[in-house]
Amino acid sequence: MSYYIRPMRKEDIPQVSRIDREAFPTMLPPPNFERELRNQMTHLYVVCDEDKKIDQVDIPVARTGTSGLVNRLKRWFNPARPGEDNTFQPENYSDYICGYVGFWVMADEAHITTIAVSEELQRRGMGELLLLTVFDRARELYANIVTLEVRVSNTGAQNLYLKYGFKQVGVRKAYYTDNREDAYIMTTGDITSSECRSLMRDLYQTHTARWGEARFSFPVH
Ligand SMILES: CC(C)(COP(=O)(O)OP(=O)(O)OC[C@H]1O[C@@H](n2cnc3c(N)ncnc32)[C@H](O)[C@@H]1OP(=O)(O)O)[C@@H](O)C(=O)NCCC(=O)NCCS
Repeated sequence: MSYYIRPMRKEDIPQVSRIDREAFPTMLPPPNFERELRNQMTHLYVVCDEDKKIDQVDIPVARTGTSGLVNRLKRWFNPARPGEDNTFQPENYSDYICGYVGFWVMADEAHITTIAVSEELQRRGMGELLLLTVFDRARELYANIVTLEVRVSNTGAQNLYLKYGFKQVGVRKAYYTDNREDAYIMTTGDITSSECRSLMRDLYQTHTARWGEARFSFPVH
């Protein structure tokens, strides 16, 4: 499996929405990714499996997505000519999305608002790549720290954040509206410091040795 990280696009919405609903089924209403993509403050990135493409007709059409239907209609109204196979037109194929992360930057702080990896693809290093992306992009946007909230019961995600240098700095009581669960506030130190950069370099090297080289659509610093 080869990983590719790039900014999220409109055509990714059905796949990202499916991962979001699987990861956060009780969080209502579901996020409006179309609006988030237009929001200048929000930064959304996806991790894709480079060895796979997905036929948009097969993407379950999520609440806000219509690409499956649109493509099906295109095929009905534009059938293949004799000898032509229109099922392999590249525009009908999308990157296969495995996970996504969203964050916003305000002043010197990047705040991770959401992060999820498709359930059957978890524990293969993609959460780490998404976090590395946030650190890199946040530095580009002149942020000095990264913060987030995480459910007190979500020890898997907490382990990921601890591995990347986050520390628990506080608790938000009854933060989650579905079950009034508390959230830990977790924050990094200065992400522009040489200690943090060197931790990221070490973690990335270990990650590459374990999972192979990932490709990014932007220059990683
Ligand atoms: C949290 C999440 C994004 C992690 O993604 P992932 O791709 O599975 O994580 P990775 O494979 O990159 O894991 C990296 C590290 O995180 C920690 N970790 C991740 N999942 C873990 C789990 N279930 N139990 C214990 N540690 C876990 C480990 O330290 C792991 O390092 P290791 O492989 O050396 O043990 C994923 O579990 C997920 O989508 N969960 C549902 C949504 C969610 O809870 N999001 C967080 C909201 S705050």
